[in-house]
Amino acid sequence: MTDLSPAPRRAYIEVEDLSVQFPTEDGLVRAVDGVTFSIDKGQTIAIVGESGSGKSVTAQAIMGLVNARTADVTGHVWVDGQDIVGMTDDELRKMRGSTMAMIFQDPMSSLHPFYRIGAQLTEAVNVHNKVSKKEARDRAIEMLQKVGIPSPEKRIEDYPHQFSGGMRQRVMIAMALINSPSLLIADEPTTALDVTVQAQIMELILELQQEYNTAVVLITHDLGIVADAADQVAVMYGARVVESGVIDDIFYKPEMPYTLGLLASVPRLNQVRADRLDPIPGNPPSPIRLPSGCVFNPRCVYKDRVEGDLCATERPALLPTDLGHMVRCHMSKEDREAVATIALGTLGRETA
Ligand SMILES: Nc1ncnc2c1ncn2[C@@H]1O[C@H](COP(=O)(O)OP(=O)(O)O)[C@@H](O)[C@H]1O
Ligand code: SF4
Ligand SMILES: [Mg+2]
Repeated sequence: MTDLSPAPRRAYIEVEDLSVQFPTEDGLVRAVDGVTFSIDKGQTIAIVGESGSGKSVTAQAIMGLVNARTADVTGHVWVDGQDIVGMTDDELRKMRGSTMAMIFQDPMSSLHPFYRIGAQLTEAVNVHNKVSKKEARDRAIEMLQKVGIPSPEKRIEDYPHQFSGGMRQRVMIAMALINSPSLLIADEPTTALDVTVQAQIMELILELQQEYNTAVVLITHDLGIVADAADQVAVMYGARVVESGVIDDIFYKPEMPYTLGLLASVPRLNQVRADRLDPIPGNPPSPIRLPSGCVFNPRCVYKDRVEGDLCATERPALLPTDLGHMVRCHMSKEDREAVATIALGTLGRETA
């Protein structure tokens, strides 16, 4: 019988088996290894993990910013049905700033120090749209207003250094969103800011996401800011996604030992036993010499629950443990749930 069911629908963004390798003098750097996730318009996925786990390189690959001359990018990044991997520089330039945009920890990576911000914002409009000078200027002022810059018609004449850190961050967000992209990648956007400004900037990003129905990839090493901001979470360790799911899966039903360690190091989740704050002992792996087997095995305190030396010899696959919840670990589901209860119990929390 012919199968008449429709083909599975692609999400707006589908990252499929994405890998990035840099050949270097010291050896091959495996920065991203088989990363897969998807996200729809209006949704936010948070990518979390320690420094060096491959978050920024994943973001750069999605934006087509990894230099094909110095790196080997494989897999697919489908943006609205078009594959970013393999696009020409020209095609990518057309996408960047119109369909997709990126913001960073340091606003000066997007803003030129020697040009007035008005000139930079109108230039960003003009690259992708045929509009009059006045229309571009009006759009720049409107965008500055939206990101909360007071007296935008005056401030448009200022240079980046005339703004405070938080305000500069707002200007960068205005610049990224001025052509209403459908995808925004935010790479540690609040890491350099103090806590109050951090919260304001996150709130601003979420407000604008609602207004434009933008898909957001939020990259952070801080699980603490994820809970209010994201719909889904992908936890990265040693270039791979080790656990992914909706917020509740990751915060209340985590199963991968590395995720348990990350949760244990979030102060906000730890009010009950703040004295037991317990960062994960040991160091992240070198991307040139990733451990064989489970990349987390040198730091994992639960590997004796797995028979034989599977943890040291065989790479666990990322497998579904529940609908939409994926885990990469050799332990049985019973054992994973048991260790989660112990780990989270120590923190005075309950698993759902
Ligand atoms: N251009 C490059 N050449 C060689 N190695 C790189 C390059 N860019 C990143 N890396 C390495 O790839 C790994 C992942 O980096 P990155 O994605 O920046 O980590 P994260 O953002 O999670 O802190 C790191 O070990 C980093 O040193
Ligand atoms: S596969 Fe083994 S080493 Fe890796 S997280 Fe699971 S128990 Fe720990
Ligand atoms: Mg980074």
